[in-house]
Amino acid sequence: MQNFWKEHSTKANEEEMMLDSDADTLGREEVPEILSLLPGLEGKSVLELGAGIGRFSGRIAAKAKSVVAVDFMENFIKCNESTNGHHGNIQFVQADVMLLKFPENSFDLVFSNWLLMYLEEDEVCTLFEKIFNWLKPGGHFFFRESCFHQSGNKSRTCNPSKYRHPSTYNDILGSLSSFLLTSSSSQASSPCAMYDVKLVFSKPIQTYIKVMGVY
Ligand SMILES: C[S@@+](CC[C@H](N)C(=O)[O-])C[C@H]1O[C@@H](n2cnc3c(N)ncnc32)[C@H](O)[C@@H]1O
Repeated sequence: MQNFWKEHSTKANEEEMMLDSDADTLGREEVPEILSLLPGLEGKSVLELGAGIGRFSGRIAAKAKSVVAVDFMENFIKCNESTNGHHGNIQFVQADVMLLKFPENSFDLVFSNWLLMYLEEDEVCTLFEKIFNWLKPGGHFFFRESCFHQSGNKSRTCNPSKYRHPSTYNDILGSLSSFLLTSSSSQASSPCAMYDVKLVFSKPIQTYIKVMGVY
């Protein structure tokens, strides 16, 4: 996957990163739509996974207390830092999300937009579990993915992305939340005993339906 993103991060611009020649039009509508779906950001500690060139980082940082923006592509992280570093409350981290470590209860919100489709299913499960540990009680995890099929129109020599059915993500969440609940009954002293994951909402992004005419 790193090779795929090396190939698509040489220019570090929106078109390249969104793998779409019409990234500008899409982004203008899509970014506000996605931000409107987030819980209140004021005073919140946010972890942004797969932040890319920072289409969301600066906008989130303008309201939140702090943002940790993570991406494994050096060009993207550098571009994000040069665009959004002036906010002063963003920590830019070049790392594979699968290798991240944070103390429990570190964040109010974990945000990712188009990351999970670049992970294998077992990695998604592992990452979800880590995220539930990093979230404070009452915290939120927001993720947005392309489901069913490719959305961007850029031609690719290979495309390792996983376009899952939305129910796959729901199933992973469900299995983890019952796992955590099961752990709570079998190991009362385990920190897992404190977790209960609830799906707040799941919906298609309207911008894509409007601009592309598809889900
Ligand atoms: C389609 S871009 C989306 C970027 C940004 N979230 C946005 O919507 O503008 C996917 C991003 O995920 C990053 N990425 C993919 N797999 C990753 C991994 N395992 N660890 C860190 N970053 C990853 C890529 O480098 C790329 O920046």
